[in-house]
Amino acid sequence: MQTDSSFTFVLFGGTGDLAMRKILPALFEAHRAGGMLADSGKIVAVARHVADRAGYLEWVNEHVKPHVSKNGLDETAWASFLDRIDFVKIDLGKAEDFVLLRDAVSGLPGIRVFYLATGPSLFVPICRALASVGLNENSRIVLEKPLGYDLKSSNAINDAVGEIFAEEQIYRIDHYLGKEPVQNLLALRFGNVLFEPLWRREWVESIQITIAEELGVEARGDFYDNTGALRDMVQNHLLQLLSIVAMEPPHSMDSDSVRDEKLRVLRALKPIDPRDIGKVAVRGQYHAGVIRGNAVPAYATEPGVKPDSTTETFVALKVEIENWRWAGVPFFLRTGKRLADRVAEIVVNFRAVPHSALGASALRGGANRLVIRLQPNETIRLYCLAKQPGEGMNLASVHLDLAFDRFFREGQMEAYQRLLLDVINGRLALFVRRDEQEAAWRWVEPILNEWAASNKPPKPYASGTWGPAAASAMLAQHDTCWLEEEN
Ligand code: BG6
Repeated sequence: MQTDSSFTFVLFGGTGDLAMRKILPALFEAHRAGGMLADSGKIVAVARHVADRAGYLEWVNEHVKPHVSKNGLDETAWASFLDRIDFVKIDLGKAEDFVLLRDAVSGLPGIRVFYLATGPSLFVPICRALASVGLNENSRIVLEKPLGYDLKSSNAINDAVGEIFAEEQIYRIDHYLGKEPVQNLLALRFGNVLFEPLWRREWVESIQITIAEELGVEARGDFYDNTGALRDMVQNHLLQLLSIVAMEPPHSMDSDSVRDEKLRVLRALKPIDPRDIGKVAVRGQYHAGVIRGNAVPAYATEPGVKPDSTTETFVALKVEIENWRWAGVPFFLRTGKRLADRVAEIVVNFRAVPHSALGASALRGGANRLVIRLQPNETIRLYCLAKQPGEGMNLASVHLDLAFDRFFREGQMEAYQRLLLDVINGRLALFVRRDEQEAAWRWVEPILNEWAASNKPPKPYASGTWGPAAASAMLAQHDTCWLEEEN
């Protein structure tokens, strides 16, 4: 894909973790691939702890280089990538410093992208300072999650940012929407006739969406302890995945058609009655344990975490969607840190056949199941029953696999790379609109409130397991179990 969309990409939080691990590596990959970024495009990093451009490039060489090109670094491309980078030292607390930024970017061609890879408390001050020097014109702004702490704080940020930037200029990033298999889910659902007729309550018994991580809170204990899994993963990534799984076919793939349909799902989520929370929501916190042979510490002893913390590192939920397509079908969502495996997948369990001439085994639910593995090893697997070879009619479960790396030679694009290119090229479809975000906060808020008021701590689980037993018990009440518990 050749582009001539020129741009100036201003990166706030230029020496932060996200810049180091995701944003700069993604821009480098786009640069290295050739043709994705206009030659005239510039990156202007903003940070406080570095003196000048030479110092910043030193930091980039030391910290970003190890995160790029896992299959060997192209040194020539790396050198020309560094040529794109400029640097401005700004104290974000001082609005007058933004004059320096204006001077650095004025005269540079193309659209200006301001990427706010900073804490949410800086979003509004940065936007106001940008406006004070006239930089809100001809520009787009990218806001990282978490956008706020609850509905009220997220509305306050959105209101204030909305006074400076129009909604079409605001790109709220949720990197799960940039993952290739999530895009593929849209292709699978809306590019084929096979699945859509079955994609409804008449044929689907239940759906599971899991994002499980082996990692703990790493160096983010302080942030995470004030956030928890519900805000960190459910309000955004899991509800976004749910809305893509459950949405109606959009009229087109333009940004508002897709986002309108996702919004309808979020608005149709059955509100959680605080009295039912014990039945439909499980929260857990990891204790010490062993992951892949290595002993790992308890959450409460991680740096930055309060020893008596009641923050959840695991959440499992039963969610219902109140519309004709999905009424009565349970959606089980689950996420957690320090679980037994790193896996993100969507499992669609179809109903059993209504009558079986082939014996009782064909009447068992779960004979047909679609498993969409988002990571690792992106695959879509369709389970069916087949006759076992030999005498008699004995059925066994078999599967059809769609393994993307067998069909497509080019590697998958990293989520951040796709999303950054979308911002530069003005494509909003994979970014969260304000009304979607509000609907998601509105739905999670009763759970947040109930847990905050409750004097029951989260349920403990040993690191390296699949979370508290209560998460399995919740599914058992619906005669089902998590995928890894099958057999
Ligand atoms: C981030 C969360 O949004 O997503 C992290 O803040 C989490 O806590 C991460 O680890 C997971 O993303 P991925 O792409 O590694 O599954």
